Amino acid sequence: MHNVEQLVAAATAEFAGINDAAQLEQAKARYLGKSGSLTELLKSLGQMPAEERRSAGASINRAKEQIETLLSARRETIKRAALENQLDVSALDITLPGRGRGCGGLHPTVRTLERIEQLFRSIGFEVADGPEIEADWYNFTALNTPENHPARSMHDTFYLENTPGVLLRTHTSPVQIRYMQEHVVQYGHLEHMPEIRIIAPGRVYRVDSDATHSPMFHQVEGLWVGENVSFADLKGVVADFLRRFFESDDLKVRFRPSFFPFTEPSAEIDVAFMSGALEGRWLEIAGCGMVHPKVLRNGGIDPDKYTGFAFGMGPDRLTMLRYGIDDLRLFFDGDLRFLSQFN
Ligand code: FA5
Ligand code: MG
Repeated sequence: MHNVEQLVAAATAEFAGINDAAQLEQAKARYLGKSGSLTELLKSLGQMPAEERRSAGASINRAKEQIETLLSARRETIKRAALENQLDVSALDITLPGRGRGCGGLHPTVRTLERIEQLFRSIGFEVADGPEIEADWYNFTALNTPENHPARSMHDTFYLENTPGVLLRTHTSPVQIRYMQEHVVQYGHLEHMPEIRIIAPGRVYRVDSDATHSPMFHQVEGLWVGENVSFADLKGVVADFLRRFFESDDLKVRFRPSFFPFTEPSAEIDVAFMSGALEGRWLEIAGCGMVHPKVLRNGGIDPDKYTGFAFGMGPDRLTMLRYGIDDLRLFFDGDLRFLSQFN
């Protein structure tokens, strides 16, 4: 039957040219669908003479099987080609260089703060905390700072607009008062109050900016209050701390008489190295003194029974000394070329 062979040949050629699964199914319908050409042939069998019908029917069915075999072969080929294409597109090229993920590190001042906390914890100090937005009373008044003291001026202190009596703390010393008050609430009823031994690290703010002064910087307050705490204890604690902090005995510590309204007597603590790049140069790293009786009283503590020392040091300055950095502002510029050197 001529027609049937032509159809198979046409289907073979057509299917071979199709590379898309949906197009292939449309082509299939043209042969095997309800009104497909092969289906039409089958329908025409009814009009044939009985003697021809049998062999014509057999050859149409053979053609149908052939077309179905062609179809499924082509389906398989198209499917495999699509998979290979997808593998090509999403291929993982293991010869490409890796994409590095930068590793963060601690800021040099944070390293110093952690070191300070560790060293003071080892001699029985706790780490305390206070707010950076502080009441004038805690920052100045309670610390025996008179109303007309120059530190209270707008030139030195950041005040909050429209909020009288509130400022950005200029030092960590207000934590002294806050901690004493809390301590008294807890232990004030006892005949022998436990000692206060704390450090209070944190950020402080001043209207100030040059190579050794930054408008935001850090301080670490220290406070030891008990029965018979003396200036000798202050010297011992500070000198021992500094030798351990700098890992050097090759270090001189000097207590230079000074003035703070909240301590009496008061001193500035200077450090000089006996060797290295900074040899023989004295650098101020802290203020300190015996806590003023009025300050103890403002904290709720009886100055006739208890004494104490306090200090406030600059960990940014300690960091400069430890790493030999000459400009404090580098710490706060956020320049990774500088900061990544510490990791
Ligand atoms: C005070 O702030 C006192 N509260 C310290 C104190 C505490 C005295 C307890 C007595 C008892 P002074 O302003 O000197 O003092 O600051 C203390 C230290 O902070 C300085 O020695 C210095 O190391 C550091 N410091 C001060 N100003 C700056 C600044 N602008 N930038 C960086 N570090 C500073
Ligand atoms: Mg000073």
